[in-house]
Amino acid sequence: MPKNMDVWILFGDDIESNADLAHEVRRFLAVGKQMDVKVRVVRPDEFDLLVTHEVRDTILINGKQVPLPDFVFPYFNHNDHSYFSLAIVRQLERLGVHVYNGAQTIETVRDKLHTHQILAESGITTPDTMLAKFPVDMDLIERTIGFPVVVKTLNGALGIGVFLIETPKAFGDLMELVGETNPNLQLIFQKFVSQSKGRDLRLFTVDGEVIAAMERRANDGGFKANFSSGASVHEFVPDQEAIDIAVRTAEVLDIDIGGIDLLFNEGGGYTICEANTFPGFKGLEKASGVNVAEKIFEAMQRHLTRV
Ligand SMILES: Nc1ncnc2c1ncn2[C@@H]1O[C@H](COP(=O)(O)OP(=O)(O)O)[C@@H](O)[C@H]1O
Ligand SMILES: [Mg+2]
Repeated sequence: MPKNMDVWILFGDDIESNADLAHEVRRFLAVGKQMDVKVRVVRPDEFDLLVTHEVRDTILINGKQVPLPDFVFPYFNHNDHSYFSLAIVRQLERLGVHVYNGAQTIETVRDKLHTHQILAESGITTPDTMLAKFPVDMDLIERTIGFPVVVKTLNGALGIGVFLIETPKAFGDLMELVGETNPNLQLIFQKFVSQSKGRDLRLFTVDGEVIAAMERRANDGGFKANFSSGASVHEFVPDQEAIDIAVRTAEVLDIDIGGIDLLFNEGGGYTICEANTFPGFKGLEKASGVNVAEKIFEAMQRHLTRV
C-alpha cells in the first residue's frame, strides 16, 4: 500500500455548509484521517491554469507552486458546469495525476443524450430518447415516444429539470412556453417507464464493482425518486442482472466512481435511467451500511499499487 496517499478533492462550495455534496466531503476528511490518507479540499477557482512545458510536477494554487498529489477526485456539484473546472481536471490528468473520474467521462456523462447514445450503441437498454427540435413535431413524438412523456433538460441534476407530461395538450402548451421564452434550452423527450413510477435503484460503482445499492421511493406521490427531493431510501440487495447492467454501464462510459440509476421494467428486469459522475452517498450509506468513502480510498490505493 502506498504510504500517506495524497488525495485532492475538487469541491467548489463551503464544506461546512449544507451545500450539495458538502456532507460527503466531510466524510472523506474524517475517513481519510483514519486511513493514512491525506485529504485536501481545493476549490477549482483556487487554481491558476498555466500551460508550460517547463514545469510538470507542480500546479499553481492561490498563485503558488504546489507539488502534485497521488490522486484527484473532482466532486463538482450541479451548480458547477464551468469550463474552468473541467480544464483543471484535464490539466491534472495531463500532468500524470490519477483522476477518478476523468474529464472526458465527466463531459460525456453530463450530457444525458450523449450518455444514452453510447449506452444504446453498447446494447444496454435505455428508454427511447429524442433530442428536442423546435418547432416540435407532435405527431412524431406521439408515434415514437408516446404519452405520457418525460421531458428533461440535457444537463440537469437532482431531478430539478425533469417533468412528466401526461397529454399531448399539456406537452404542446409547455413547448409553446419554451419556444417563446427560451428556444435555446436543450431538452430531451423520453419514454416513461411507468412500472418505475416514483421509485428507482441506485447502484454505486467503484472501479468496476458495485459496492453498495439502494432503492429510492418518492414520498410525494410524484414520479421522481431523487433523494435530494425527499425520496426515502431502502436497503436493496441487487440481483446479478442489476449488477451486470451497472458494471457494464460504468465500463462503456469509462466511469471510475459512479452512481448508476436503474428503472424497473414492466415484467421484470431493468433499464438505465442515467449515470452520475459526482454521486452523493449520504442516503446510500444510511440505507446500505456501507462505508462508501472508505471503499473509494481503498480503490484509489489499489489503483496506485497496480501502476
Ligand atoms: N423515463 C423515465 N421513466 C420513469 N421515471 C423516470 C424516467 N426518467 C426519470 N425518471 C425519474 O425521475 C428521476 C430523475 O430523473 P433523472 O434522469 O435521474 O434526472 P436527474 O439527473 O435530475 O436526477 C429518476 O430518478 C426517476 O425516478
Ligand atoms: Mg438522477
